[in-house]
Amino acid sequence: MTDLFNEKAKDWDANEMRTMLSSAIGSSILVHVSLHDQMRVMDFGAGTGLITSQVAPLVKKIVAVDISEAMLNKLVSKPELQGKVEIVCQDIIHQPIAEKFDLIMSAMAMHHVKDTSKLIQRFSEHLSHGALIALADLDNEDGSFHPKDTEGVFHFGFERNPLQIILEKHGFREIKFITAHTINKEGKKYPIFLVTATKN
Ligand SMILES: C[S@@+](CC[C@H](N)C(=O)[O-])C[C@H]1O[C@@H](n2cnc3c(N)ncnc32)[C@H](O)[C@@H]1O
Repeated sequence: MTDLFNEKAKDWDANEMRTMLSSAIGSSILVHVSLHDQMRVMDFGAGTGLITSQVAPLVKKIVAVDISEAMLNKLVSKPELQGKVEIVCQDIIHQPIAEKFDLIMSAMAMHHVKDTSKLIQRFSEHLSHGALIALADLDNEDGSFHPKDTEGVFHFGFERNPLQIILEKHGFREIKFITAHTINKEGKKYPIFLVTATKN
């Protein structure tokens, strides 16, 4: 499979818009999710670990899942994550991992997965009873956020109500949306939601 993030990985962390966004999403997760030192966490679409780095000091372990080897290579090179993070370079939609988690978090990765319902089903299957999700992504936008025809973008953000219905269908309750951040890009505003929920 082509690594669509191979080039982007090289200077991913150097982009100010991304670091501001990750910092806002990470802070929102810290505020809205009760993290503890026994928690086993999956970071779905972890990339170079911008969110993982903020959560790792507060939990037991993070499994960073991504299909980009280049992005995960950046993540494993970070000294602060040594011993705390395991990487899994595979598509859990087709190849689930034999582990259950207390929290699945994700930032800006869901719009890269075509079948949202299947993805949420996979999240549910990877969670213990009473476990949590914290998922951040773009609110519905007009398609201008990514350059035209960017490969691997399947959704121009998400509408909150249909996403809530998918979450309910797969056994999530206490579903809460907040706006974690607003990206200002080329004169346009792109709100970013964080949805938290508990698995039944
Ligand atoms: C926009 S980046 C976000 C990276 C990171 N979460 C951050 O906030 O900096 C999206 C990430 O999702 C990953 N991704 C795309 N499709 C995926 C899939 N099916 N399974 C796991 N990761 C995926 C990409 O490889 C990329 O690293």
